[in-house]
Amino acid sequence: MSLLSGKVAFITGASSGLGAATAKYFAEQGARLFIVGRNEGALAQTRAACQQADAEVVAQVFDVGDREACVTAIATCVEHFGQLDVLANIAGKHRLHHSTEVTHADWQLDLDSNLSGPFFLSQAAIPHLLEQKGNIVNVASIAGLQGQPYSAGYCAAKHGLIGLTRSLALEYAKTDLRVNVICPGGMDTPQVSDLQMPENIDFELLMRSAGFRGMMTPDEVAPVIAFLASDSATAIHGAVYPVDKGKTAG
Ligand SMILES: NC(=O)c1ccc[n+]([C@@H]2O[C@H](COP(=O)([O-])OP(=O)(O)OC[C@H]3O[C@@H](n4cnc5c(N)ncnc54)[C@H](O)[C@@H]3O)[C@@H](O)[C@H]2O)c1
Repeated sequence: MSLLSGKVAFITGASSGLGAATAKYFAEQGARLFIVGRNEGALAQTRAACQQADAEVVAQVFDVGDREACVTAIATCVEHFGQLDVLANIAGKHRLHHSTEVTHADWQLDLDSNLSGPFFLSQAAIPHLLEQKGNIVNVASIAGLQGQPYSAGYCAAKHGLIGLTRSLALEYAKTDLRVNVICPGGMDTPQVSDLQMPENIDFELLMRSAGFRGMMTPDEVAPVIAFLASDSATAIHGAVYPVDKGKTAG
């Protein structure tokens, strides 16, 4: 039997990078999937790749910062599959700004994608996850554990996501629901390759978060999410997992 046989997983950020790699890995491990992204064409490619692994997949495009859309999508997932076992909050957005130039809209976008979305989806998913003894895996960042320059909104949101994880872990401590968060270091994904550099930034400051072992691939991180989401990890609840090739070791 595969690691996630019989499980239904709701995965955000699935049109690219870590979300796409996780969807494919979950499909290979026997899960049925509800995948979410912003880019319809790219999401369709993820869906096709998951179907090649014989997974049943529903794909939907929406903004996780839209609370009503989150509630509707979780309801659609449960209506379609009859259950929900795993919520993987992987969608996120990182943009660099000089802090004094951040607009209200920039700030709101950082919070919507990285923090509000995971909360809205958790609110909608928890009643169903409780029925299944299910779990939530959030994807924060080493920017949730340490400061990173030019990233005030992103850092604040990722630190917040760790706090959200711990708060939910305690609120549901007397149930079987599990809530965990991973903190990846640099991964070779569109988030990094598409990163726009503002003018006059200090690269010495920026490169402090690079570490010594280079970038990870999303395929190295996806199995960690699958393990935490699986019944092999029933002892792990409220945990904050660095997955960063030692970057935050000291
Ligand atoms: N790449 C890195 O170096 C790195 C490091 C640490 C943490 N992370 C985190 O890993 C996660 C995955 O990022 P990635 O590196 O695969 O980048 P990515 O840009 O390839 O993927 C991010 C995905 O999130 C989706 N998304 C963003 N905002 C959204 C919104 N409001 N609604 C719905 N979907 C939205 C995007 O469409 C995209 O599919 C993110 O949470 C990111 O912050 C990435």
